[in-house]
Amino acid sequence: MIAQPLTILDHHYQELRDDGKDVIQGLSQTPKTLSPKYFYDDHGSLLFEKICELPEYYPTRTEAWILQQYADEIVEITGCCELIELGSGSSTKTRLLLDAYQKIADSCKYLPIDVSGGILKDSVLQLQEKYPNFSIHGLLGTYEQALVHLESNYLQSRMLFFLGSSLGNFNQEECAIFLTQVSQTLQPGDYFLLGIDLQKPQDILEAAYNDSQEVTAAFNLNMLSHLNWRFQGNFDINLFKHQAIYNQIDNQIEMYLHCQQNHCISLETLDLKISFEVGESILTEISRKFDLATMETQLQSKGLKTVKTWTDEQQWFGLILCQVV
Ligand code: AVI
Repeated sequence: MIAQPLTILDHHYQELRDDGKDVIQGLSQTPKTLSPKYFYDDHGSLLFEKICELPEYYPTRTEAWILQQYADEIVEITGCCELIELGSGSSTKTRLLLDAYQKIADSCKYLPIDVSGGILKDSVLQLQEKYPNFSIHGLLGTYEQALVHLESNYLQSRMLFFLGSSLGNFNQEECAIFLTQVSQTLQPGDYFLLGIDLQKPQDILEAAYNDSQEVTAAFNLNMLSHLNWRFQGNFDINLFKHQAIYNQIDNQIEMYLHCQQNHCISLETLDLKISFEVGESILTEISRKFDLATMETQLQSKGLKTVKTWTDEQQWFGLILCQVV
């Protein structure tokens, strides 16, 4: 079988060349922050795949269970449409949806979008093998780039899906901007399928982000190795420790790298030197935990009307199918 070429968004490399401004800003402020997008070099993406299989990390398998139970119902509601996935990673859970669409349509179009080129390319090749009748094109780029690209390429009815509670990694303002952009990119009648992690007891949440095998710790620390590679830096990952805590006021997990020793680092290509004091932390990620009804109201305010919501027995994870009005 001839592999279809990976479609690469033109401005992606532009973005890689001139990014880093957010690193300068985040490390120059107090408290220090870094964007979670720097988790996902190829090694980070592989570590994330490992996280998804950890016994403590319930979101992936819970969402997969919901998809397993209800994929046929989703397909029955939407009918055959162009499928677009934001942040597709290895597209593992997506197969549950693709299997269901395959039952009703001879051919279907699937566009996975991700910032990690290696994992995107591998998953596109595997999916092309498994679904030879589907037209599958990977798009390499950020969510924003992808949505702009999709806006100008409108052909048929669509379902955009955003799984794994990646929405939780946006703060409230970013979340509002993102949902507006989704709603503006889609046309009336199009669908948006959103997977969100729900509020639950603190001990379950903190265990999921401080796993006993320390894969999440390696994932968090890998961000510094990624910055070293990308900006010719000299972070010593042994001088930082991972910790995730649940902030009950803001209903969010906060992932930190705590500095263990006074020291300075430099990121040569950013012409940046930063000093760290023992006890100081870098906030690398928030992971918000949602309330289903509140999210449905927010979606509605963006013109995304809930068609149906599914959850698991413990109500740990929610899947919302909405339609643009
Ligand atoms: C990608 N995202 C939804 C994950 C989360 O749960 O917020 C990233 C993650 N960070 C630590 N573990 C998983």
